[in-house]
Amino acid sequence: MRAAAKAQPNIALIKYWGKRDSERNLPAVGSISITLADLQTTMCVEFDDALSSDTLTVNGASSDAMLARVSRCLDSVAGDSRARAAVVSESNFPIAAGLASSASAFAALVVAADAAASTGNSRDQLASLAGQASGSAARSLFGGYVELENAGDDIRLSQLCTADDWPLAVVVAITASGPKAVSSTVAMETSRETSPFYDRWIAQQDADLDEARSAIADTDITRLGAVAEHNCLKMHSVMWGSRPPMVFWNGTTLACMEAVRDLQAAGTPVFFTIDAGPQLKAICEPSDAGAVREALERVDGVEQVTVTGLGGGARVVADD
Ligand code: PMV
Repeated sequence: MRAAAKAQPNIALIKYWGKRDSERNLPAVGSISITLADLQTTMCVEFDDALSSDTLTVNGASSDAMLARVSRCLDSVAGDSRARAAVVSESNFPIAAGLASSASAFAALVVAADAAASTGNSRDQLASLAGQASGSAARSLFGGYVELENAGDDIRLSQLCTADDWPLAVVVAITASGPKAVSSTVAMETSRETSPFYDRWIAQQDADLDEARSAIADTDITRLGAVAEHNCLKMHSVMWGSRPPMVFWNGTTLACMEAVRDLQAAGTPVFFTIDAGPQLKAICEPSDAGAVREALERVDGVEQVTVTGLGGGARVVADD
């Protein structure tokens, strides 16, 4: 009744922003992401009849803030009448700071819970259950380049190509490491209810998905970068136009964007994306990753720069 699983965060190139069904946490739009290699979350789940309630330990400290979500997710995998569980989560990167830690956490959680309870769900079923806990988590069940589509009353995941098919590098610039002020769920609802740009955002998403899919099929980083930056800035425009406005960037985030623009002007094929947090992720060829890293390290206010390749989907690992 005990198992461990490992998963990595994914970074959306074509973003999920907005829900069509908040009860079931179904996204309003499809999305395309890349799964990272070196930022990892390991989850250990032990179901134990002797426990009177679930417990959650995150990076060595007991965590009540996430416990209710974790318990609901465990119910969805192992059923309401399951034994209570002790859950231990370890991540090797800052959590709740716009690095998609909830994606790796819930992807690893559903895989570990499924193995611990021997429920035998398919990968697609586990993706759907992870997605109910955190929309972007569904994508971390798969490695490489992943598309999430809205399919009838559920989601459907597919791998567009593997990390080995097109091994790009991701350079992550950490500009602030504290937890973010507004959760994605609240920010998405505020966007839907108040932003004059929200409907246009939804209407244009299929065109961005088509363009990104085609750029990935052609391994064309210039075309992929153009549509990914456009899609990212549109998502943030939706938030800036909301009431109250939501600005997740700081001055250093903007300075990092400028550094990427300078590299582009000098002929380096690199592009940026930014999620609901102040970190900037620059995507480039592995041979350019050193130069991109140095450029971002030179930006005033950058706390840390991490380079990672692309990796595989969530999987069971030895429990030690
Ligand atoms: O999965 P959530 O609820 O944390 O939302 C993720 C939203 C973005 O990271 C901003 C975009 C995305 O597609 O991952």
